[in-house]
Amino acid sequence: MLQATEEEAKQRFGTTQPLFNYRWEHVTAVVTLALKLAELTGADAEVVEAAAWLHDIRKEAGAKHPQEGAKVAHEILPTTDFPQEKIGHVARAIRSHQGLWRRKPLQDLESQVLWDADKLAKIGLTSLFHFMPLMLMKGNARTTEEFIANARSNNKWLPKTVASMHTAPAQKAAKKRLKQFNKLLNRLEAELNGADLSV
Ligand SMILES: [Fe+2]
Ligand SMILES: [Fe+2]
Repeated sequence: MLQATEEEAKQRFGTTQPLFNYRWEHVTAVVTLALKLAELTGADAEVVEAAAWLHDIRKEAGAKHPQEGAKVAHEILPTTDFPQEKIGHVARAIRSHQGLWRRKPLQDLESQVLWDADKLAKIGLTSLFHFMPLMLMKGNARTTEEFIANARSNNKWLPKTVASMHTAPAQKAAKKRLKQFNKLLNRLEAELNGADLSV
């Protein structure tokens, strides 16, 4: 997976050793959150961990990366000691992780856990600290004000993501994370324009 993130960085930034390897940071955060959610919900930890590691392995395939990632799971996992009967579950979870919000909830617990963990990593302070260096490297935010404006534009979809969470612990954490996200941006803006001086 690390190699896949380095190849993605090479495509995006022309180097396998970017200042900040966003994809690696994202995937490792998703693995940690997915395992914690598995513990809290009773989801199969082996399925969830394998799915979390592999979910973005074909990110360069764009909108098709969940389907392509599921194919990779079918190629890689049979060559390991991973329980063979669980490979289909891993592939299903990877295939289902698409989209920043959902109209219909996913049905199986492991897919729900991967979806929730992936989206939790895009909400809250994690998203601010992951997206800031990424935006700087992509040239999408050259000033702090631009960074705040770009981060705020995420507000259009973040509430829908929060409302799409499946598992109870993720629902609770997502609401808190969105609150913290807005609070931090507001606080930063108040410091920059001096609004905090008159409070
Ligand atoms: Fe993805
Ligand atoms: Fe992801």
